[in-house]
Amino acid sequence: MRRSLLIWAFLWLALMTSDLAAGSLDGALGKALFDRQWVPAPASTDAADGLGPLFNARSCASCHPGGGRGRFTEDRNGQITGNGLVARLGDSAGTEDPTYGSQLQTSGAAGQTGEGRLLRRADGNLEIKDFGYGKLHPATRFGGRLAPSLHGLGLIALIADADILQWADPEDSNRDGISGRANFVADTQGNQALGRFGWKAGHADLTALTASALSLDLGLSNPLAQDPHGDCTAAQTACRAAPHGASQRFQGLEVSSDMLAFIVTYISTLQPPPRRPLEPPALARFTGIGCAQCHRPQIPLPAGGQVAAFSDFLIHDMGPHLADGIGDHQATGREWRTAPLWGIREASRFLHDGRATTLRQAIALHGGEAAPSRDAFLNLSAENQDQLLNWLSQL
Ligand code: HEC
Ligand code: HEC
Repeated sequence: MRRSLLIWAFLWLALMTSDLAAGSLDGALGKALFDRQWVPAPASTDAADGLGPLFNARSCASCHPGGGRGRFTEDRNGQITGNGLVARLGDSAGTEDPTYGSQLQTSGAAGQTGEGRLLRRADGNLEIKDFGYGKLHPATRFGGRLAPSLHGLGLIALIADADILQWADPEDSNRDGISGRANFVADTQGNQALGRFGWKAGHADLTALTASALSLDLGLSNPLAQDPHGDCTAAQTACRAAPHGASQRFQGLEVSSDMLAFIVTYISTLQPPPRRPLEPPALARFTGIGCAQCHRPQIPLPAGGQVAAFSDFLIHDMGPHLADGIGDHQATGREWRTAPLWGIREASRFLHDGRATTLRQAIALHGGEAAPSRDAFLNLSAENQDQLLNWLSQL
């Protein structure tokens, strides 16, 4: 009881000091939960938290600081410090690893063994060291996933399916070499819905996505991911036997439906970065060399206004170098959602696994459907390349 009072006192304090617009009570509570440093459940059963038993970080904010893109550093030996980069595990159909589940949780509560360490090799690819539970299944592949910025997701959620689907051309019937397609996934009611969130557009709505983040990244059960042991598999017996924080006060879960809804309200109201003038010459060049065929500068909203995200929210084959072999619903191991470019001015690492440290590198690594556009960029004069990069770095 004392503990729960403490939590609500904490939430209230966070609310009073929050810089959110007055009146957005749910959003302020959501921000407090987003920033909250969760702790593992103690052995006594009457616990409010239940981080883990295996987890990647203690708060949403540690991977999405200020709701932004993950920040981490890499030293010369490829040692990664800081949060915001995780390893996704799965086979070509997206099926999870029988021992490790669908994400490598690098940390554990007291008495638990973390699943391994993620390192960057000199060739830019990632490597997992110090596996805690033996080998991965032979069919399992792993791939890095950088935590994206959450600013503007509320607007992306409002785009009508038809305004995205109009650009899908799975058979490339217009023969422009670009065959973007939609990634349909099951929504919370089990209906097919257009995936538009995540690096492979494997999520259709922010509630299901938040529920999955709570479970996979933090090990917190909630109405849509009810296992209090998170991503621990049956093979991880110590984890399954560990205490958890499911509590009657939270509907027999670690995070109640109200708390889930507060977090969703908070992230849905994170505004996109302020728009800069589009600079017609730079935009014309961006369009002229084919970038805008995937990175659509703006998409209209049904209720008026535009989403200037620079994406078509479709998935594209980006060639063998960016492929990680992991399927995600209908996306193959080579397909990725066109990354929105708004807010790119704040990024210091690019692409789904953060392998690029400059915009130029990010473009040079485009392959597959984007190869002709990449080559058109590389064939620009040095001056024109710099102009385009300069413009991009301000989006
Ligand atoms: C350990 C780091 C980590 C933590 C902690 C974390 N995330 Fe994420 N988040 C990621 C990564 C990595 C992705 C990209 C996943 C993908 O696309 O496969 C992501 C993606 C997302 C997205 C989709 C963004 C987009 O552009 O489509 C949302 C929304 C999100 N996270 C919300 C949350 C919330 C809410 C929490 C806390 C409950 C949270 N995250 C905690 C790493 C993290
Ligand atoms: C065929 C579609 C397509 C075309 C054409 C294309 N891109 Fe991309 N772009 C993508 C996809 C998909 C990603 C995400 C790839 C990944 O993360 O592995 C991406 C990622 C990026 C990124 C990194 C974004 C981030 O969040 O890290 C930048 C920058 C970028 N593209 C710029 C460009 C520019 C400039 C051009 C034109 C020269 C271009 N792209 C052409 C599909 C395309």
